[in-house]
Amino acid sequence: MRDTLRFITCGSVDDGKSTLIGRLLYDLGQLRIDEVETLTTDSRRFGTRQDDLDFALVLDGLEHERAARITVDVAYRFFSTGDRDYIVLDSPGHEQYTRNMAVAASGADAAIVLVDARRGVVEQTMRHMSILAMFRVSHVALVVNKMDLVGWDHETFKRIESAFVNIASQLGFRSATSIPTCATTGENLVDSVVASWYAGPSVLTWLAEVSPGMVDPAAPFQLPVQLVLRPTSDFRGYCGRIAQGTLRNGDPVVVIPSGKASTIEEIYIGDAATGQATAGDSVCVTLAGDLDVGRGNVLSPPDEPLSYAAQFRAQLIWLAEKPLIPGREYLLKLNYASSRASVTAIRSRRDPATGSALAARQLDANEIGDVHISLAEPIPYAAYSESKQLGGFILIDRETTATIAAGVIQHELRRGANLTWHLVNVDRQAREQLLGQRPCCIWLTGLSGSGKSTIANALESHLHAQGRLTYLLDGDNVRHGLNADLGFDEADRAENIRRVAEVARLMVDAGIIVIVALISPFAADRQRARTLFDRGEFIEVHVDAPVDVCAGRDPKGLYAKARAGQIPNFTGVSSPYEPPLLPEIRVDTTSQDLAECVSLILALMS
Ligand code: ADX
Repeated sequence: MRDTLRFITCGSVDDGKSTLIGRLLYDLGQLRIDEVETLTTDSRRFGTRQDDLDFALVLDGLEHERAARITVDVAYRFFSTGDRDYIVLDSPGHEQYTRNMAVAASGADAAIVLVDARRGVVEQTMRHMSILAMFRVSHVALVVNKMDLVGWDHETFKRIESAFVNIASQLGFRSATSIPTCATTGENLVDSVVASWYAGPSVLTWLAEVSPGMVDPAAPFQLPVQLVLRPTSDFRGYCGRIAQGTLRNGDPVVVIPSGKASTIEEIYIGDAATGQATAGDSVCVTLAGDLDVGRGNVLSPPDEPLSYAAQFRAQLIWLAEKPLIPGREYLLKLNYASSRASVTAIRSRRDPATGSALAARQLDANEIGDVHISLAEPIPYAAYSESKQLGGFILIDRETTATIAAGVIQHELRRGANLTWHLVNVDRQAREQLLGQRPCCIWLTGLSGSGKSTIANALESHLHAQGRLTYLLDGDNVRHGLNADLGFDEADRAENIRRVAEVARLMVDAGIIVIVALISPFAADRQRARTLFDRGEFIEVHVDAPVDVCAGRDPKGLYAKARAGQIPNFTGVSSPYEPPLLPEIRVDTTSQDLAECVSLILALMS
């Protein structure tokens, strides 16, 4: 029976990745006549190999296609020999490389990692291997290319091979093979090598022998719902691609996560009703009874239901320029389900040079980390080791909609599962009645010296005089107790703000009018604080004054020290302040006096 192997090629620029694939296709007679003609003329014009064909140009053709369709992350190239079809997933190199490689790796059964025989295993090799390991690409071949340039020296090959075997076993690959080649002349690509000391496979033999990921038809079925179809009022179909297993008419199903039960009435593939469908089929099914099933739900067998959870341990690769900071809120998408999510802890990051785990407080671009993730709502999932489709996820920046991380679920964290909301007898409404006030959170943000504390004090005095119960959470004070363990880098500030916001939320729930005075320089942290409160309950006040005015006031003498380089990460000097774009109110302390600022805020509260 024919099967398909999807493989990815990775290598540093100039290792010969394009030449390898170009030459392989040429030797297998898999280039179209027009491609060979273009290759011949292009080799004469642009080639770097005098009169010989420059096979790197075959894939450069793909680069052009890619340039024309700029959204394509990964280029596919198909070829077939013997009983197997191959799909080469080629990710373009250069700066965007990691993102594209992550996309390609998540869909590959095998990988070819190229190194230059003169340089051997380099840091980039380790980075590629870490990504392949994270996405559980089972089979890896290290292709030691340009062997002609080291005179096919056995010792050189052995040295590189042993470094590679070391890394592969550390990262837990099932199989790892090293193959010496010379891609320009084609040695050991299709036919075996000339070197007498090498008895292993050629690149093609290796590709023909590794086993692609097998679908197990006996696995419990999982049908993730991609679309709910309601063409008429009496038809409701649930469409999606069966992730695993087999589905038949009359099968009992349970909807994950709601737990509602039903049975399959009919299965359609296209327009045709078919009694049965299996993994990989795109189907539309109808269910008995009236159920509420939405996009992102999964239909699953009642005796082996898919799990769902809101807390996970996961591995992820961080793709954004700005670092990952625990506590910030992102959007997580797993299959068709999505939820607000934040990374609650970074357990470790992978050292790119050695692959070992290091302590980390943030993840920088292209770093791989081991993290805890907490979702706003539970979603259906499987561990990535069980199902790539139901265990792989991405994180999206909610403001820019950019994909900022790709990750794999390792397992559920049971913490959330064993915690329930304890129902209380005396609720917020009762407390509001007792106190005779509507609680809220007034959040003052602005530079040090902008006037936050002064305004907060005056505002609180005013409210107190009116008989209101208030509490002031001031940055300097909170940092002496609750947050005494935190400093001023971005990660610590995010945590400072998260804690203060949670405390403010509890106090608002207690019925108190809470005034917060924190620099809170990062928009993402203030946005997260806002999501803890109901609509209208969070009043963001931008206490505005130019940095030079604040530095002139310098009530604590800190600007002078910061400008003299004595205080690192000082807001407005060596750390940024992101002004709110849409605060409930902005007060300008250079043109408005204290009484005016206070009365403007009071006006918003009534
Ligand atoms: S925040 O950025 O995390 O919101 P917060 O309001 O709690 O800051 O604390 C700010 C106060 O800490 C300032 O008013 C100042 O007195 C003091 N401080 C000490 N170091 C710094 C610094 N590097 N940047 C800003 N404020 C600092």
